[in-house]
Amino acid sequence: MLNVLVTGGSRGLGLGIARKLAASGYRVIAVARHENEQCRSARAEADASGQGAFVFHSFDLSETASIPAFVSALRKEHGSIYGLVNNAGISFDGSLALMPSSQIEQLLLVNTMAPILLTRSIVRSMMAEGCGRVINMASITAFSGYSGLSVYSATKAALVGFTRSLAREVGRAGITVNAVAPGFVSTDLTHSMTADQREKIERRSALKRLTDVEDVANAVEYLLSDKAKSVTGTVLTVDAGCTA
Ligand SMILES: NC(=O)c1ccc[n+]([C@@H]2O[C@H](COP(=O)([O-])OP(=O)(O)OC[C@H]3O[C@@H](n4cnc5c(N)ncnc54)[C@H](OP(=O)(O)O)[C@@H]3O)[C@@H](O)[C@H]2O)c1
Repeated sequence: MLNVLVTGGSRGLGLGIARKLAASGYRVIAVARHENEQCRSARAEADASGQGAFVFHSFDLSETASIPAFVSALRKEHGSIYGLVNNAGISFDGSLALMPSSQIEQLLLVNTMAPILLTRSIVRSMMAEGCGRVINMASITAFSGYSGLSVYSATKAALVGFTRSLAREVGRAGITVNAVAPGFVSTDLTHSMTADQREKIERRSALKRLTDVEDVANAVEYLLSDKAKSVTGTVLTVDAGCTA
């Protein structure tokens, strides 16, 4: 069974991705700070299906100095890691002029530093094995912009640059590196969006609807699969045509 590490696999998009991948036969190693009831039912669902598996490890990705030891413990327990989905992310919205430095630092740490350091730890063994898949969760705000999300958008734009360059760096080792850029999806991260804002996004999108968790999980599943063996260095936008 191929191991895929999904950060932020306890809720929202990450949980949807983890459940989809477990149903497709992967062993999902979901990582987040807190295990919850949804994780326990995802594990029961995977066990009952007899397909893949769902295991949960608690870890705070902002503890970046502990990432190498965390990765080697995972490798010792589960074996080599085929896929890495850098999905965990946080968001603070508000005007840049009023944003405290502590929030800016936290955004950069969790959304940019942590995925880069986690990828560094995992890509080393992928290179030794001559295969692997890295998928970074960006956002359409990285290229379209959104008022009140300047720092968040900067962290996502950084992941896009990281994706493209790393794809060039590790391609010869048989590793693909791609990003997924979702549009607005209703999760805990976006709970502060008003009904009015949601309606506006829906109205402006080409498909006249919002993106759902399943849409994003399907994109990740595709990028991990053999069907995407020649796809690397790309950003797959999944936004119901919001930026079309
Ligand atoms: N929802 C959207 O509209 C949207 C659009 C574009 C891109 N995205 C991106 O998609 C990703 C997932 O978003 P979401 O909407 O699913 O968010 P969410 O519902 O808030 O879930 C975030 C996940 O990340 C985990 N997490 C947060 N901080 C962490 C930390 N320090 N260490 C370990 N895990 C941590 C959370 O678990 P714990 O709190 O237990 O740690 C949770 O599992 C993010 O990168 C986000 O930027 C979302």
